[in-house]
Amino acid sequence: MDQGAVMGISVWIGTSNRGFAQQAQEEIRRLFEAPVRFEWLAAGELFKFTVEESRERVVERILAGAPAFLRHMQPVEAEADLGEDLQATVAWLQRQLKERPPGAGQRIAVQVRKTEEGASGLSVPELKHAVDELLEQEWQAVPVAREADEVLSLLAAGGRLYFGRSAPHENISDWPGGAIRFRREEGQISRAKFKLLEAEQAFGLDFAQYRSALDIGAAPGGWTSLLLERGLQVTAVDPAKLDATLLRSPRLRYLQKNADDVAFAAGEFDLLVCDMSWSHRQMAKLVKGLLYALQPGGTAVITVKLMHKKAFQTIREVTQDLAPELSLQQAKQLFHNREELTLFFLKL
Ligand SMILES: C[S@@+](CC[C@H](N)C(=O)[O-])C[C@H]1O[C@@H](n2cnc3c(N)ncnc32)[C@H](O)[C@@H]1O
Repeated sequence: MDQGAVMGISVWIGTSNRGFAQQAQEEIRRLFEAPVRFEWLAAGELFKFTVEESRERVVERILAGAPAFLRHMQPVEAEADLGEDLQATVAWLQRQLKERPPGAGQRIAVQVRKTEEGASGLSVPELKHAVDELLEQEWQAVPVAREADEVLSLLAAGGRLYFGRSAPHENISDWPGGAIRFRREEGQISRAKFKLLEAEQAFGLDFAQYRSALDIGAAPGGWTSLLLERGLQVTAVDPAKLDATLLRSPRLRYLQKNADDVAFAAGEFDLLVCDMSWSHRQMAKLVKGLLYALQPGGTAVITVKLMHKKAFQTIREVTQDLAPELSLQQAKQLFHNREELTLFFLKL
């Protein structure tokens, strides 16, 4: 065992989608031999965890483990009782920052969050503004929202303020609490589009690199619209109606049918996406029957409904049902997923 493992101890805050923190905790527990201590900060979605491992080791293990339910983590380097006085809070932060002063020109994203209860009268925008000003005036650092060199995380919960600094990648997501936001466009067909946009980022895909997609359970057409925007030929299958604005696209083929009622040429598609709100086993059976149409090396992005919260079992069953043709690359509960999660597969 290395020194870090023997001597290290690190404290973190973990965030999951509401109602899935137990799964996130289970994922963390499985990654470490040393016991992990958990403490709720907001039931079902936000918790503090302490691991008897160095900070570097925890980041390495968790990133390598690619957890599905742990959406975000942030280190806790210091914590204090949260008073009502903004100036006193900023003075406390200033003392913390002096221990490792930010560099001039360093791009720092200050991310402030608070839980609904127990965060006193703290105003998140006021505190963020005050810390941004402090960083600029005292250290000539540059406050930014994105593409930061460092994230400075502040969380007010249960009457305490938690402070930590990290490189953006160490937080799993560089959005505060992993709550990635996309701008709603005028005429946007469905909120479901955000799921596919988020999946593209989360799985490091670039849909513009694909040629031809099969969208199963496509209506009203949020996913189809994104794939058309990325320049693909899209075959949309759904007995329900697609939004009329899509029907003008010359790159769209719309089959207003049940997915077990359609047939294609072998290897016709290099991308298969499926967002049916169905029982996971029925969905897997249906997708399996269409896998001949996905070319070897092709990608599949599939939303899976989590029935009765048996999340790990559900992932296992879908993965087994779709094997050996599809090989699971990553499972992730996206911020835009609700009682579901998204799987990314490659066709062998
Ligand atoms: C959650 S919606 C899909 C939303 C879509 N991804 C979007 O971005 O607008 C689920 C769709 O699956 C369709 N669906 C359910 N069973 C199906 C089946 N057997 N074959 C094809 N589509 C099906 C439903 O009609 C419904 O439109």
